[in-house]
Amino acid sequence: MQETARNQIIRIAVFASGRGSNFRAIQHALEGMKQPPARIALCLSNNPDPGAFEFARENGIETVRLSPRMFTSEEEYEQALLDLLLNREIDMIVLAGYMKLLPRRVVQRYRNRIFNIHPALLPEFGGKGMYGANVHSAVITAGRAESGATVHVVDLEYDTGAILAQERVPVLLDDTPETLAERVLEAEHRLFPRVVIEQARKLLDERGREAPAGS
Ligand code: GRF
Repeated sequence: MQETARNQIIRIAVFASGRGSNFRAIQHALEGMKQPPARIALCLSNNPDPGAFEFARENGIETVRLSPRMFTSEEEYEQALLDLLLNREIDMIVLAGYMKLLPRRVVQRYRNRIFNIHPALLPEFGGKGMYGANVHSAVITAGRAESGATVHVVDLEYDTGAILAQERVPVLLDDTPETLAERVLEAEHRLFPRVVIEQARKLLDERGREAPAGS
């Protein structure tokens, strides 16, 4: 009985370094569904007590802090992270404002099952150092008429994985990095839950094809 239920839901780990507004948007979207294809089973952060943890606690979602700084070597950190994800039977990883690169073995193990949201229209305005206000300042300085949000697959570099979806917003003449960030964030909150839900459904379908019901 339990086994069937387990196979019918995708278990997500959300990785968040900060306030976690995208995490909230995803949780709210899943909560609003009659038959959600996924549930958020874990919130992980490299920081001691980010805003995301507060929301996780309020929603009965397990929180774990794990940072490379807590380990003496990269290998130990990588192993601890992998052990945690496998132990919690995590199927999919969602990076919602997570500021660290993921270790190689985690990326390999979860290939095409790790998704990130970036506050610009990749492949432009991405890469190391392109986060927060830096992104929006760069877009304004470059004189772009449009910006937006991008959801992409995560690989071993910053912001280089396959692009899955984008939502565009206008850049207004009097925009500051803050006003543009606000408009882009609203787009993120529409886009990210939609893509996460689509990807969870896709994974469930694949699982169904591998092990048809009743087998
Ligand atoms: C978002 O702008 C996202 O695009 C970027 O980090 C920010 C996280 O915001 N990767 P929040 O923690 O989800 O509110």
